[in-house]
Amino acid sequence: MKIQFDEKHLLAGVAGEANGVTRSEYEESRPNALEALASFREKSEKGLYGFPHLPFQKEMIDAINQYADSVHFEYDTVCVVGIGGSALGAWALDCGIRGPHPVQGAFTPEHPRLVILDNIDPSFTAAALASMDAHKTLVVAIAKSGATAETVATFLIVRDWLERALGDEAARRIVAVTTLGKYEEVPHKGEYKSPLCELADTQGYKTFGVPENVGGRFSVLSPVGLLPAALIGIDIGELTRGAAEMTHRSWQPDLEENVALRAALWQWLIWIRKEKTIQVAFPYSNQLWGTAFWFRQLWAESLGKKRNRAGAMVNVGQTPVAALGTTDQHSQVQLYIEGPNDKVFTFWKVEEFGSPDTIPARTFGLEAVDYLVDQTLTKLIDAEQRATAAALSMNGRPHCTVTLDRLDEEHLGAFLQMMEFQTAFMGELLDIDAFNQPGVEQGKNFTYGLMGRPGFELYKEEIEELEKKWAAAGQGTLGSGAGNGVGAAERT
Ligand code: PA5
Repeated sequence: MKIQFDEKHLLAGVAGEANGVTRSEYEESRPNALEALASFREKSEKGLYGFPHLPFQKEMIDAINQYADSVHFEYDTVCVVGIGGSALGAWALDCGIRGPHPVQGAFTPEHPRLVILDNIDPSFTAAALASMDAHKTLVVAIAKSGATAETVATFLIVRDWLERALGDEAARRIVAVTTLGKYEEVPHKGEYKSPLCELADTQGYKTFGVPENVGGRFSVLSPVGLLPAALIGIDIGELTRGAAEMTHRSWQPDLEENVALRAALWQWLIWIRKEKTIQVAFPYSNQLWGTAFWFRQLWAESLGKKRNRAGAMVNVGQTPVAALGTTDQHSQVQLYIEGPNDKVFTFWKVEEFGSPDTIPARTFGLEAVDYLVDQTLTKLIDAEQRATAAALSMNGRPHCTVTLDRLDEEHLGAFLQMMEFQTAFMGELLDIDAFNQPGVEQGKNFTYGLMGRPGFELYKEEIEELEKKWAAAGQGTLGSGAGNGVGAAERT
């Protein structure tokens, strides 16, 4: 397994003094990286954070494979109901291994497809249901909290659709992935930790657990990502083998070996010292497009934080953007090359595509056409990436490259684990908690309040009060600055 990180276009010698980092700045910052490694390792060993341990959980991997084998051939569609960290990992794996959606092979019980119901757009949900055959669908409801309104609402619709077609058999076609068990301490002693788990127990659904020390966006290698992957025929043994290898590398103090830590250090320097507040994740591979969206959430939700660990207001964050090469060369690159110099670009390259790609050897006597004849798409996509990289460097735009030898389960598992480690190390370098998401929780609580969930009435009152204030401000009946929401934001 080979994954490389190339930082040379982040260097001041290439991107210029104002936009690049010097070798000596990097050398001087090594101790910061080693401190980040030691501090994260200590927390991980104490069991605070669980993602580094996932690839080694043989029992979990075996249990998923056993279940997948037991239901194989019973369905041609796996319908995942989940959102955010409970959906994006499955998408990254499906897209990475089975291929991007519009060009996936025909779906059959031998090669089932994945349908992900994350958004609650009614037209999307209705169209998805219309496209599936209830007799050939296996439903996987995924929510760590077991309460996210979007997931619960969609699940109730899908469950009803399934039950109307299958009657009592429906329960056997539903699996729940959520926090298992009940609270042992007062005040909640004896209550289920997850409403989805309670529903599963009362309705007789099969369940898989999400470890409590693994947050949504770090859960792709738990049953959250591995179960849907195994159900659509992805080799999760190879996936976790690659991730395990990357985990070993990610604990090494040698920065040449530890690609996640080295990448984190370079990204930190370029972001903080050169104020590149936007990171463009730029895969030159359609199969990595799902991973780019998975990464967007990982980077945004983990590193976008109001306060540091000491509680000081920092409002830190780097906005992740997903761009696809070569497609976005014809959409975004003009902005990237000539617009504000506030971005760092991370190319994701695949060395070997492993697909037939020779341009047929027929000439037409046209110079602008014939030069391509007998060359390959692999050579062309590589030339396009090099051309974009050169144009960026010539204009003082820093960029770096992660190269995967090829895109198979082993490499994808390693790459996802590398990104998770890089994010965790970045959290340490920034001295923030990369594993919480108070902003997301705030939005969820307001939604619960607005939709009438018992216990959340005060959120409804607060939002309605604020909306009244904002409406008044909009009509000019309040002085400037009134109702600007700062008070509400400050309380969280
Ligand atoms: O990363 C996270 O913690 C979030 O994005 C969650 O995954 C998302 O909010 C969904 O939560 P849940 O799995 O509880 O439905």
